[in-house]
Amino acid sequence: MKLFSELQRYVGFTVDDERRLKVVHPLLSPHFQDVVERFYERVLQHDDARAALQRGERQVGHLKVTLTQWLHELFEGPWDDAYVRRRERIGRVHVLINLPQHFMVTAMNVVRLTLREHLSNTLDEASDEGRASRDALQRILDIDLAIMLHTYREDLEARNARAERLATFGQLVGSIGHELRNPLGVIETSLYVLKGNAAGDAKAQRHLERISQQVGLANDIITQLLELIRDRPLARQRVELAPTVASALDSVKLEGVTVSVDDGAGGAALQADPTQLRQIVINLVDNAVQAAQPAGQVRVKLSRDEQGVTLEVADSGAGISPEVKNRLFEPLVTTRTRGVGLGLALVKRMVERHGGRIEVGRSDELGGARFTVWLPTTGATA
Ligand code: HEM
Repeated sequence: MKLFSELQRYVGFTVDDERRLKVVHPLLSPHFQDVVERFYERVLQHDDARAALQRGERQVGHLKVTLTQWLHELFEGPWDDAYVRRRERIGRVHVLINLPQHFMVTAMNVVRLTLREHLSNTLDEASDEGRASRDALQRILDIDLAIMLHTYREDLEARNARAERLATFGQLVGSIGHELRNPLGVIETSLYVLKGNAAGDAKAQRHLERISQQVGLANDIITQLLELIRDRPLARQRVELAPTVASALDSVKLEGVTVSVDDGAGGAALQADPTQLRQIVINLVDNAVQAAQPAGQVRVKLSRDEQGVTLEVADSGAGISPEVKNRLFEPLVTTRTRGVGLGLALVKRMVERHGGRIEVGRSDELGGARFTVWLPTTGATA
């Protein structure tokens, strides 16, 4: 809101402007369709702008509705906190869809010119009131564009910083991971020899077993790290969701936590790498179980839509704090005292490589965290 009031002062947007926008709203709203048509005509003329419409023509239909709604709010307000938050979201969404920044500016110009044209056809622009209305419109468009560009830059910078951190992480992990494999391999070979020699010594056997387990753990961590930076091709095949989830659950230690599955996906199948799909479920449920300990609950919910399946994993744990939430899917970020923070980074990577998405929020039902994974079914045949 601080940004909004600063902008209001800067462009001189006043309650008189609010009143004028409300007055011209019914005069201009019959022309919103024309504004929206010209907006998309321009978008579709440019390859880079069109590329942001990943779901093609169907998305244009959805966006036309969104943009019309945006136009109504522009003239009707109320220009309050919620208004600013909705405007802030636009810039962030545009970063997510990789829309180059200049298209926001040029698109806003199309909106500006088209509205201006219709305004001068309906109002006498030479009159004081006509001029004042035109100025009010320019001001609110300036404010909206400034908010949009502000959050766009904020998110783009955060994303670039994250990419840089991850690139450094990748280089480090690649070299350290490979270097550690060799000494671990030597330890494993020596353990094998020692186990043979200590056949009659129960205490020594126990200790050797412990060392062996820990070496296994270290190897697993290295495998996960290398998996994060490697681009192994996906071995896609037809996979049924519910049985995969059931088998993944078998390998999670429940440690007193109750896990229930609500299968609303009705035998859904998808084209996926079965090992990765299983790993996605294991990592999410394992995290949820850790969060819900000692005697909480975890709920796994499966559902489907026209284009994909959704896997929801909710827990009764403490939830995720806003500070951690933004970086939760980055490697080495963890809320657990044990664990290195690779599980969720891996899940995100696997989900995205399948063309899906993952979100985290709060579970209304259980009070803890809720992870929602959506994966496209992409051509899974019955
Ligand atoms: C004046 C400039 C623009 C305005 C006011 C605007 C407005 C909006 C709004 C209100 C949303 C919804 C945000 C939300 O989910 O809360 C949105 C999303 C989006 N915008 Fe824009 N936009 C502008 C420019 C563009 C341009 C030039 C493109 C080019 C392709 C574009 C493509 C999209 C797409 C693909 C989404 C995602 C919508 C979805 O969820 O399907 N926008 N925009």
